[in-house]
Formats: sequence, C-alpha cells, structure tokens
Amino acid sequence: MALERTFAIIKPDAVGRGLQGEILSRIHKAGFRIVAIRSMRLTKDEAGGFYAVHKERPFFGELTDFMSSGKIIAMVLEAENAIAKWRDTMGATDPKKAAPGTIRHDLGTSIGNNVTHGSDAPDTAAFEISYFFAGHELI
Ligand code: RTP
Ligand code: MG
Repeated sequence: MALERTFAIIKPDAVGRGLQGEILSRIHKAGFRIVAIRSMRLTKDEAGGFYAVHKERPFFGELTDFMSSGKIIAMVLEAENAIAKWRDTMGATDPKKAAPGTIRHDLGTSIGNNVTHGSDAPDTAAFEISYFFAGHELI
C-alpha cells in the first residue's frame, strides 16, 4: 500500500492544557511522519470555512466558537493508510465512547472538547491540507 497523507489538528482544549507534547509523542509512537506543522489561532470565520460541511448542524456555532477560542496546532501526517490510522489513533468522536488507549478516550473531556481532529476521507484530507498549507510546505 502506498503512503497516504491526512490532516490533523491539536484543538484549543489540548493546547490550553499543555497536551501538545503528549499528543506529538503518540503520533510519533504510532509511526507517522510529520510532513508539516504550524501553530496558529483561527478566526471564527476561518474555523467556519474549515468545518463548512457541518454548517447546517445544530452544533456549528459552538464548534466554530471552540475552534477559534485559542491556539491550535495544524499538521499533515504521512503513513501507510494514514487517514484510517489517524482516526483509529484518535478514537471515536465522543471520548466516552472511544476505546481505552486512544487519544480522545485518554485525554478528551466531552464530545466538543475532544482534543484532536482528523480527516475522514481522501477528498476531505486534500481539502483540509490545502486549507492550511501551500505546496512548497509539503515536500
Ligand atoms: P473531527 O472532524 O473534529 O475530527 O471530528 P469527527 O470527524 O470525529 O466528528 P464530526 O462529526 O466531523 O464532528 C466535528 C466536531 O464537531 C463536534 N461535535 N459536537 N455536540 C455534538 O453533538 C457534536 N457533534 C460533533 C466534535 O468536536 C467533533 O469533533
Ligand atoms: Mg469530522
């Protein structure tokens, strides 16, 4: 199987709690290469553009408030089967339903404050990578 890339975020709840090192260590141990990484704070509009697929959902306002509430760390991760592998490493959306040993189970506190994001398919990974990184940053 060929190498694949996915897009990941360490969300504001995790950065605010100083969990960057713990999460980067788990990324390393799981065998991903970090292709690109950047720390930034999104505006509410930038968060809304990123999560545009959820525009009509009842939690959209809460989600974009949260994602613009503090610094995030945006990353491109590479591995074989990276999209599914990163979703498995994170665990289920709701930390209460995530399997023990996953990032969201071990570090998440609620369905909103679930510490990480991961792309869910090749087309969303391509959109999300290009939303944050230029081609010359992805070598
Ligand atoms: P993500 O996109 O952040 O990786 O999360 P996901 O695929 O596991 O879940 P998704 O359905 O894409 O939802 C995006 C984010 O919205 C928040 N959410 N809140 N209050 C709620 O019922 C609810 N449902 C989803 C979560 O923070 C989720 O990560
Ligand atoms: Mg999602």
